[in-house]
Amino acid sequence: MHKRIPAFVVVLFLLAACKSTQKNAATPAFDPYHYTITKKVEAVNAAVVSAHPLASKAGIAVLKMGGNAVDAAIATQLALAVVYPNAGNIGGGGFMVARLSNGETIALDYREMAPAAAHRDMYLDEKGTANTQKSQLGHLSSGVPGTVAGLFAAHRYAKLPFEKLIQPAIELAEKGFIITASEARSLNNLQADLKKYNSVMPVFVRENPWKENDTLVQKDLANTLRRIREKGAAGFYEGETARLILEEMKRGNGLISGQDLQQYKAKSRAPHVFDYKGYKIVGMPMPSSGGLLLNQMMKMIENRDIAGMGFHSLGAVQLMTEVERRAYADRAEYMGDADYYDVPVKMLSNENYLRNRMKNYDPAIATPSTVIKPGELLRPESEETTHLSVIDKEGNAVSVTTTLNNSYGSRTVVGGAGFFLNDEMDDFSIKPGVPNMYGAVGGEANAIKAGKRMLSSMTPTLVLKDNKPYIVVGTPGGTTIPTQVFQTLVNILEFNMSTEDAVYKPKFHHQWLPDEVMTEKGFPPAVKEAMQKMGYSFSKERSGIGRTECIKVLPDGTFEAVADNRGDDAAEGY
Ligand code: GLY
Repeated sequence: MHKRIPAFVVVLFLLAACKSTQKNAATPAFDPYHYTITKKVEAVNAAVVSAHPLASKAGIAVLKMGGNAVDAAIATQLALAVVYPNAGNIGGGGFMVARLSNGETIALDYREMAPAAAHRDMYLDEKGTANTQKSQLGHLSSGVPGTVAGLFAAHRYAKLPFEKLIQPAIELAEKGFIITASEARSLNNLQADLKKYNSVMPVFVRENPWKENDTLVQKDLANTLRRIREKGAAGFYEGETARLILEEMKRGNGLISGQDLQQYKAKSRAPHVFDYKGYKIVGMPMPSSGGLLLNQMMKMIENRDIAGMGFHSLGAVQLMTEVERRAYADRAEYMGDADYYDVPVKMLSNENYLRNRMKNYDPAIATPSTVIKPGELLRPESEETTHLSVIDKEGNAVSVTTTLNNSYGSRTVVGGAGFFLNDEMDDFSIKPGVPNMYGAVGGEANAIKAGKRMLSSMTPTLVLKDNKPYIVVGTPGGTTIPTQVFQTLVNILEFNMSTEDAVYKPKFHHQWLPDEVMTEKGFPPAVKEAMQKMGYSFSKERSGIGRTECIKVLPDGTFEAVADNRGDDAAEGY
C-alpha cells in the first residue's frame, strides 16, 4: 500500500503537521501516505490491535509519549473515526471494558439512546406493518450518539491530556491518508446510498471511482474534531457541532433534538463477571447482551469434555451450536436495557438454570427452535462495528467495541460536520417478532422507549488469569459477535490453539432464529453434511464472519497481538 508521491510532499506534510501541533503536541509518528499492514506482533511494552493500521499506529504513538492503554484506546478510536468511516465513529456509540493497573475492572456504556421523541411504534405504518427501511437508513434510524461522551468518560483513567490523544485524528482528517483497496471498494459501493440519504454531499461522494492509494481528506471532520479538542464533550453535544446535527435532522425529518444531545451521558456500569475453570472473564453488562450470552454459552459447555472432542469435530460443533441456540432464545425474550426493563440476569446466569437449559440437549439430533417466523438477513455483508484491543506493561488492558450499526450507519453524514450518523435504532425490537437487520427478534424487553438504549451484541471481553490480564478480545459482526468471541475463547482455553489459529480458523454461528447454522468459508464440509443428516439447516456460506482482534499475554509476560486476516486489521506494538 504505497502511493508514489514525491518525498517533498511527505516532508511538507510533516512540517505542516509540526507547525499546527506546536501548541497541541502530538505530530503523528507515522506516515499516512506510506504504511503496511502487520497481522501479528510480539511486544514487550504495549500492543494495539484494531481495524486499521493507521489507527493502531495512533494508539502506539500515544503509548510511546507516556500514555497508558486507556490513552491508546481513546486515540485509536478517534483515529478510526477518520480512517475507518464504515464503523469507526463519533456519530455512533460503544462499550469499553477495562482492567486497570490497580486491579479495578470497569465497564463504560456509551451506547446510543432513543431520542425523547421516539416511541414504541415509530416504525409501523397505519396497518401495523414494520418499515425496516426507516429503522436502518436515513435520519430516522439514528439514536443519540454516545461515542464522544464515552471518550471523555474513559479519559479519567488516562494519563495524557485529551488534546494529545485527539491530535493524530485531526491530522489524519486535515491532511488526509491513502486508502486501502477494500476501503476504495467499500466507498464505491456506497455512492448510491450517499446520494439518496444526504442533501449536503459529503467528501465520500465522487464521480470517478475511488482507487487504492487515493488520498481521503476530511476537512469538515477535522473542524469537528478541533471543536472537541477545544471545548471537550461540549464541542460535540453543544455549540456549532450540535447546531449542524440539528440542521441535518431538520433536512431529513430526524428526531434528535438539542435537549437529547445535551442530556446524553455515558454510564459507568458494573462489568458482567464470571468464572470459567479458574479464569475470570470480564464482559459488558446490559444494554449489551454480549457479557451475559458469553457467560451462558461458556457455562453450558464447562462440564463437558469439549477439548476431548476436538476442534471442528462433529461433537464440538454440534454442542456449541445447541448452546448458542439456547442462549440466543433467552436474548430474544429477556434482554434489553436494564435501566428500563427488569432483565433477569441472575436467573439467566445461574448454573442450575443453565444445566436445566441443556436437559433437552441431544448429541444425536438438532433441537428445533420454537416457531416464530424466521427472518431473512437483509444485508448480511454489512455487519459493521469495530473492535480494538490494547494492553500495556503497567497492567492496564482495554477492550473496546464501537459501532454505527450498519456499515456507514444511516448513510447520512452530518452536513458541514463530516461524520456519519448511526442507524442504531434498528437494534431495538421495532415490532415483536420482526427481525432486525441481523435476523434477530425481540419483544417487550427491547421495545423502543424514549431515553432507552437499544440491546447490543457487542462483547468486549477480558480474560484474567490469577487476576492479571491474560486475553483481550472482541470483534464486530452484529449478532454473530458473542458466538465469535465464545469460539475464539474456546479455541484458546479448550483446544489449546495458537492465538493466530484461534482468530483465523473458520467459525460458525447459530442465533436461535432463524433456525439455521451460518458457516464461514473453510468450515469442514464433512461436519456440515453430518449435521444436515441430524436435522440442521445451513444458510449460505459466508466469506467471513467477524474481525477478531486478540491479544494474549505469554508466560514471560510479553504480549502476542493478532489482527484478523479477514480485513485490513493491523497489530502494532513495541
Ligand atoms: N449494532 C450492533 C450491536 O450493537 O450489536
